[in-house]
Amino acid sequence: MSTVAERIRQLKMEKNAVILAHNYTSADVQDIADYVGDSLGLSVKAAGSDADVIVFCGVSFMGETAKILSPGKRVLLPEPEARCAMASMCNAEQIRGARLRNPGAAVVGYVNSTAESKCEMDVCCTSSNAVSVVDSLSQKDVVFVPDMNLGAYVASKTDKNVILWDGFCPVHQSITVRQVGAMKEKHPGAKILAHPECRPEVLALADGIGSTEKILAMAGETGSEDVIVLTEVGMRHRLEALYGQKRFHFPVQAVCMTMKMIELESIANALESFSGEVVLDPDVLKGAYSPVRKMIGLKD
Ligand code: 13P
Ligand code: SF4
Repeated sequence: MSTVAERIRQLKMEKNAVILAHNYTSADVQDIADYVGDSLGLSVKAAGSDADVIVFCGVSFMGETAKILSPGKRVLLPEPEARCAMASMCNAEQIRGARLRNPGAAVVGYVNSTAESKCEMDVCCTSSNAVSVVDSLSQKDVVFVPDMNLGAYVASKTDKNVILWDGFCPVHQSITVRQVGAMKEKHPGAKILAHPECRPEVLALADGIGSTEKILAMAGETGSEDVIVLTEVGMRHRLEALYGQKRFHFPVQAVCMTMKMIELESIANALESFSGEVVLDPDVLKGAYSPVRKMIGLKD
């Protein structure tokens, strides 16, 4: 075990902290975490934790969501400047504008959004419960922000009229039909598993679609030895640990650079000096609580 990992374990005990990490973080970060998972699983853990301090290894909206769910706890982001590019593709004012343009429509927001934006939403969702969240609403019209690809995927699974935003995840958006075709040519027997943040035409090629945690489950269920995984490469770590006999193939460019900013040193520093603490305006904490709380009650 490296010295910095030892330091983290010691500090974690001293400060009664829990370390949560998203499936896209680096392998050494995942290895030091108490829980590694998708956005829904991480939010549930953050809401139910009895630790005094939550160290959230992920991009900033994840730490904010943990703070919204556990406002009495100290939530630390080891790299507070690590942001999700998609989250900045819509803001609170734009959502208010969309409400005016679509009177009577519900606003469903992907958790990949800022805390201020969440205040304007009726309910939040993650990629693992987006369809059931939309289906649970009484309104027929639903404005879905900010991910147009997840929104289009939801629209394909529900009778609701889903009004799409024009946001996207650059990592998933970069995966093309041509690239997937080339991967399939190289590994003809491979099954294709994809995240719903991919473009609709890419999802049309997939044998299975789901959140990062669902992709992990589907990779175990498939009989194929070769699996093409259309999401971020951080997933390789758990996939290989769980299913060592299989071969996983990722698009080379599928790297979320901000997730990779988090390193063991950043975790140790955050724990040592309580740096990177998530501080939200009390009105924002209050306004975002209901949409986020509803989100963790529903699963697809
Ligand atoms: P999930 O792990 O919830 O599928 O989310 C993917 C993602 O892009 C997180 O930013
Ligand atoms: Fe945001 Fe995409 Fe990175 Fe996920 S992979 S954090 S959606 S930029």
